[in-house]
Amino acid sequence: MTLPAISALNNHRQAAKPALGLEGVIALESSICFIDGQKGELVYRGYDIRTLVRHVSFEEVAYLLWNGALPSRGELDRLQAHLCAERTLPPMVLDVLRLTPEDATPMAVLRTCVSVLAHFDAEADDMRPEANYRKAVRLTARIPVIIAAFARIRCGLDPVAPLKGHSTAYNFLYMLSGERPGPEAEKTLDAALVLHAEHSLNASTFAGRVIGSTLADIYAAVTGAIGALSGPLHGGANIRVMQMLLALDQSGESPAAYVRERLARKERIMGFGHRVYKVIDPRAVILHKMMRALAKERQALKWERYCQEIRDVMESEKGINPNVDFYTAPIYYMLGIDADLYTPLFVMSRITGWTAHLLEQWHANRLIRPRARYTGPRQLRVEPISRRQISMA
Ligand code: COA
Repeated sequence: MTLPAISALNNHRQAAKPALGLEGVIALESSICFIDGQKGELVYRGYDIRTLVRHVSFEEVAYLLWNGALPSRGELDRLQAHLCAERTLPPMVLDVLRLTPEDATPMAVLRTCVSVLAHFDAEADDMRPEANYRKAVRLTARIPVIIAAFARIRCGLDPVAPLKGHSTAYNFLYMLSGERPGPEAEKTLDAALVLHAEHSLNASTFAGRVIGSTLADIYAAVTGAIGALSGPLHGGANIRVMQMLLALDQSGESPAAYVRERLARKERIMGFGHRVYKVIDPRAVILHKMMRALAKERQALKWERYCQEIRDVMESEKGINPNVDFYTAPIYYMLGIDADLYTPLFVMSRITGWTAHLLEQWHANRLIRPRARYTGPRQLRVEPISRRQISMA
């Protein structure tokens, strides 16, 4: 390295080191969601999540996130009618699902289909706020249809058309199984959707806003957000939680021994830990109660037992609490949903938060373009290729 290059590098080293993973960095202002990681509080548009989950439906939460206020009866009726009218897929999307290998990862299938939807939306490039709002509703209506249709097609079954006049939760369970769900199942899934709808600048929302800030369309931003959510450190954790619980159930191994062994190998236990919540994830507290109630009702208390043993070891060995994914997994399992659909179900709810952030971003857009602290060399000379040394083995 030349001398000027070394001195330039040293100058860079003196500058403040950026927070790894942007931890604690305030990247923008938003009025959509507030999280207090020390108190374990989550607030959508001023309403505590614990209140919302008791009193309002997923559709009311969607309206709240998009509009900043809870809907009146008339506004909710109009939104439900709009969702109902949009719960349909262009035939080409069904063709894509039929051509997709049955062992394809559902998150990858969903990512592809959301991208394909853009080709059949006459408003795809229309960036007026009212057109983007309509596309937010359209995506929220169509994502559950894609997930349910793929789940059936891969088993050799025909997709089931949604029913008019029912909620997202009801219709998803119906389109998946072809059977009308009971009130308890609908209520449980609806509450899970409320709890997953929004979470400030998590990795997928930030990814979506970055894409949206370039003025790329909503389909591009949501496709990117789905990609970000699929990773095991983010939304992909819920699938792995269920894989762990199923493996324990099949092997009969002690959950406590399983966790200790993995911690000794420095492995992570999925469904635990959080970048923001340092005490408790309030969603996990609510989901735990829901899981216990469902396990009792379905006489499947073994899931509660496994979860408790895992939780006890994580608490005593690492002092780390469960996050939203830990109890969601057994809840969805008890509702009869295949494990690899759990992250797509996360999308089915989080689409409302992502699109609320996109609408907010576009309301006062500025390209999101941070800087990196450069740590490489500078002012290198280009050697003729005949004189270059092999630099890597
Ligand atoms: N299992 C075991 N140890 C964990 C852990 C987990 N799930 N989560 C965090 N830790 C430990 C780390 O090993 C580290 O310990 P160390 O300091 O002894 O090395 C410490 O806790 C801090 O972890 P760190 O990776 O710095 O935290 P983070 O803020 O970057 O990570 C997550 C947050 C969510 C990525 C992390 O907790 C994780 O990987 N969880 C599992 C995946 C998951 O459930 N994701 C869904 C999130 S909602």
